[in-house]
Amino acid sequence: MSLFDKIQTTAAFIKSKIKNQPTTGIILGSGLGGLIDMIEKETEIPYSEIPNFPLSTVQGHDGKLVFGKIGNKQVILMAGRFHYYEGYSMQEVTFPVRVMKALGVDTLFVSNASGGTNPTFNIGDLMIIEDHINLFPEHPLRGANDERLGVRFLDMSRPYDGALIAMGKELATELGIHVRTGVYTGLQGPTFETPAEYKWLHRNGGDAVGMSTVPEVIVARHGGMKVFAISVITDLGVTDVPVVITHEEVLEAANAAAPKMASLVAAIIARM
Ligand code: HPA
Repeated sequence: MSLFDKIQTTAAFIKSKIKNQPTTGIILGSGLGGLIDMIEKETEIPYSEIPNFPLSTVQGHDGKLVFGKIGNKQVILMAGRFHYYEGYSMQEVTFPVRVMKALGVDTLFVSNASGGTNPTFNIGDLMIIEDHINLFPEHPLRGANDERLGVRFLDMSRPYDGALIAMGKELATELGIHVRTGVYTGLQGPTFETPAEYKWLHRNGGDAVGMSTVPEVIVARHGGMKVFAISVITDLGVTDVPVVITHEEVLEAANAAAPKMASLVAAIIARM
């Protein structure tokens, strides 16, 4: 089956399970579950029931789609994403974004836990992503291009929506939430970076580094969606003394910052 046909099959299955068509998509990062509770829930579908969906394998990820409302917006939320380091192909990693588009989603919110490479950052900071650097070894748009899904040579001059970024900053001020803005570098993982790598990433324009987001954002842009993305800084690689980074600490820091991230994203969705 072609990718296009797979997307249609999966979207048709999901449509048969939901009452209202979603227009806003949300992808939750590791430890950032708080946003689920801000949804007036209508339907949940475990990934295991969805045709063509891969299964999530990483700790801290639930693996289900949640449907409902935030404010007056109909949302579809992915609790648990697929990471390239888990062994999925880039097509699998980004498949849910294609399905969201087919369901009628025009705006995508993406969150993640990331390591700070900007030495002025602190653990627990929120960083609105203004731009990214793609250092993944494989590209989600590599291969024959299906024009029904998007153009062959995609413009990436404005991957993150300027109006949503401005609204995010404004609402953060209103809510008394401190936010940074910066550049996210996407790497395959699954190792965290060496001290030299963190420094190199910063020297080369990155403020935060993580193992997700970039593939999904590329595919969302391919499908013509507006994108807003936000990182929780869960650890700092750029320090004088090398620090040990563990997945547990990353999840803990993400959990601690999740409520303010959830408030901010929910406020943007309700107002946009
Ligand atoms: N590096 C890569 N990915 C991450 C990090 C990091 O330091 N923290 C959370 N995800």
